[in-house]
Amino acid sequence: MCWRLSAVFVAALLASPRSSSADTYVLSDDGGLGRDFDGIGGLSGGGATSRLLVNYPEPHRSQILDYLFKPNFGASLHILKVEIGGDGQTTDGTEPSHMHYEDDENYFRGYEWWLMKEAKKRNPDIVLTALPWSFPGWLGHGKDWPYDFPDVTANYVVKWILGAKKYHDLHIQYVGIWNERNFDVKYIKLLRYTLDKSGLEEVRIIASDNLWEPIAQSLLLDPELSGAVDVIGAHYPGTVTVPQALKTLKKLWASEDYSTYNDAMGAGCWARILNQNYVNGQMTSTISWNLVASYYEELPFGRCGLMTAQEPWSGNYVVSPPIWITAHTTQFTQPGWTYLRTVGHLAQGGSYVALTDGKGNLTVVIETMTHDHSACIRPPLPAFNLTSQTATFNLRGSFASIKELQVWRSQFNFKTQKPSFFEKLTAVKLVNGSFTLDLAEDEVYTLTTVTTGRKGSYADPPPSARFPKAYKDNFDVQDPPFSEAPNFADQTGVFEYFVNTTDPGPHVFTMRQVVTQRPVTWTADADQTISVIGDYKWQNLSVTCDVFMENVKNGGIFVAARVSKGGQDVRRAKGVFFWVFVNGTYKVTSDIGGQAVLAEGKSGTEAFTWYTLSLTVEGQKATGMLNGKVLWTNSVQLQPPNGWAAIGTASFELAQFDNFSVVAE
Ligand SMILES: *[C@@H]1O[C@H](CO)[C@@H](O)[C@H](O)[C@H]1NC(C)=O
Ligand SMILES: *[C@@H]1O[C@H](CO)[C@@H](O)[C@H](O)[C@H]1NC(C)=O
Ligand SMILES: *[C@@H]1O[C@H](CO)[C@@H](O)[C@H](O)[C@H]1NC(C)=O
Ligand SMILES: *[C@@H]1O[C@H](CO)[C@@H](O)[C@H](O)[C@H]1NC(C)=O
Ligand SMILES: *[C@@H]1O[C@H](CO)[C@@H](O)[C@H](O)[C@H]1NC(C)=O
Ligand SMILES: *[C@@H]1O[C@H](CO)[C@@H](O)[C@H](O)[C@H]1NC(C)=O
Ligand SMILES: *[C@@H]1O[C@H](CO)[C@@H](O)[C@H](O)[C@H]1NC(C)=O
Repeated sequence: MCWRLSAVFVAALLASPRSSSADTYVLSDDGGLGRDFDGIGGLSGGGATSRLLVNYPEPHRSQILDYLFKPNFGASLHILKVEIGGDGQTTDGTEPSHMHYEDDENYFRGYEWWLMKEAKKRNPDIVLTALPWSFPGWLGHGKDWPYDFPDVTANYVVKWILGAKKYHDLHIQYVGIWNERNFDVKYIKLLRYTLDKSGLEEVRIIASDNLWEPIAQSLLLDPELSGAVDVIGAHYPGTVTVPQALKTLKKLWASEDYSTYNDAMGAGCWARILNQNYVNGQMTSTISWNLVASYYEELPFGRCGLMTAQEPWSGNYVVSPPIWITAHTTQFTQPGWTYLRTVGHLAQGGSYVALTDGKGNLTVVIETMTHDHSACIRPPLPAFNLTSQTATFNLRGSFASIKELQVWRSQFNFKTQKPSFFEKLTAVKLVNGSFTLDLAEDEVYTLTTVTTGRKGSYADPPPSARFPKAYKDNFDVQDPPFSEAPNFADQTGVFEYFVNTTDPGPHVFTMRQVVTQRPVTWTADADQTISVIGDYKWQNLSVTCDVFMENVKNGGIFVAARVSKGGQDVRRAKGVFFWVFVNGTYKVTSDIGGQAVLAEGKSGTEAFTWYTLSLTVEGQKATGMLNGKVLWTNSVQLQPPNGWAAIGTASFELAQFDNFSVVAE
């Protein structure tokens, strides 16, 4: 075992014989309390993980938001962490920057503003935290690095925080550095300075959303840096921290964790780390990547959210088990509560934590997740044994006089496959401040003085359905509620609603690709821009779209079918890509990179002219049409022979799209 046994655990072991008879544990504030609790959260972004949520019809969209944020209802999250969009690919898509260009500022792009407001509507006390993954290209001056001009980067991030306040009345309480990348000491100090100078002294800095050691070591050596940073945030810490991090006396957070498929095993992972991140690692906040799985399931890390809402076209969503595991902690604690020192491991495996509001309330969360039912996606879980056991808890100190505790239980029941999550049991009466539980394998218990817990529910959502086989969008929306058109999932570049006010004929309202320079990337963006849409299972389909190239020099634009990859794998996307270029040529390729050429020839296409492109694939045959006339036919053999429909451009360049339609077999 890699755990260090806590003093209390050792005391419990010494005090009670290690046998099948009851092991006893003391819960007490005699001798002081542990660390302040900062809350349990979900992360929207990193990237584009809430993309499809915004397109849900009501009332389903509000119901999903209630399951996530409404107090005493579902996950009742304490913290919402969002991505500061940077125009780059950040795992499952791109999110737009508030500054695509150096002289550009817009605080109404994307959906994170909306999501934060919806969260706050439900829970006015929700803690908001934000972090950049990628940055627009201008900020790197052509380099894939944001720290050569740290003052520019600090200003850029602070503008976003000021924009949140000014345009949305959203107060961001914590901001991070650069997700999972090297930090720059000069930048962190400049960020602190710029926040303070901008009247944002109350915004706290988390560093560095990566590993424990490097940042902890720097904080110990540099008092000025230490003064700038409030929280050390580590990712996927495997419930443990390091001595240097403890030595800094900073708050320690698992500022990104979980990332596991959201079935019962995923919930088992979540139950174990929510307790043990504190028991083993003194972490006082755990944030789930991601908040809600609202992206096409075939993108990387499909369904790694606390619940699933990936079908806005049907309205179907799934309140997955991690929601109820979250409720075990969130509904009975709040940021500002304090952990007791008396937390630890159970003698026969599992763990318990206890928290208090300092006013007499006590919440105890116990988990007995077995090794094989609680592994997370990373890091590897060291072996441990766990058996059913009887546990007696003795309440002492200011809790000695508690007479009754509410009881909430989840039983995973992996053998029968009939789990019961977050069930309210009869309250336990305490005798002399003591209660005893028979704990089976794979259970979670909450015992609490808080009486407001509730398992919220709505009528079942509509049944699951595939993406519609006939779909069209002409982007004719006067005041779109979001900057992007429904169901399009940008994988490189950013596609936005656009209005041309200078007598453009029929194409007043279009969709425009607006990223004109390769971003400061977080992962491997393609060299082309692309937005995917539809059903990944599609094999035989026709994609039609009006296209308009604006890059006179070497512009190009495409429609595609059977696109096989997106997210951080987008550069390796295969499919059938039909391109036309401003130099009067066309090309058909089986890769997004444009290297595997199936056909090419003359098209007569040029910039600033509208064309209708049509691509039909059926079995091994593909046909391309330009303005309704067949331009080429070819045979295609693809593995996999299915995938999304897509549109995009040949480089980071302005281009427009109109009258998109897809008909699938
Ligand atoms: C516990 O919290 C509730 C609010 O949930 C509060 O009304 C009560 O006074 C607190 N204290 C005790 C001892 O229950
Ligand atoms: C688990 O129990 C088995 C059987 O008693 C034992 O061989 C093994 O070493 C134990 N593993 C751990 C990690 O304690
Ligand atoms: C409770 O504690 C008192 C004093 O220690 C003891 O006399 C009494 O028997 C206990 N009651 C029970 C039910 O254990
Ligand atoms: C807007 O429409 C006008 C008139 O057709 C055209 O000349 C111009 O290129 C269009 N501008 C954009 C940005 O699409
Ligand atoms: C294309 O869309 C425009 C509006 O954006 C509309 O006026 C025009 O009729 C559409 N053309 C076709 C062929 O659907
Ligand atoms: C036209 O432009 C494309 C993309 O820039 C390029 O690959 C192709 O070679 C050009 N063709 C001609 C004939 O210049
Ligand atoms: C696609 O078309 C081919 C050839 O017509 C056919 O064999 C195949 O079953 C079709 N696939 C689907 C999913 O309909």
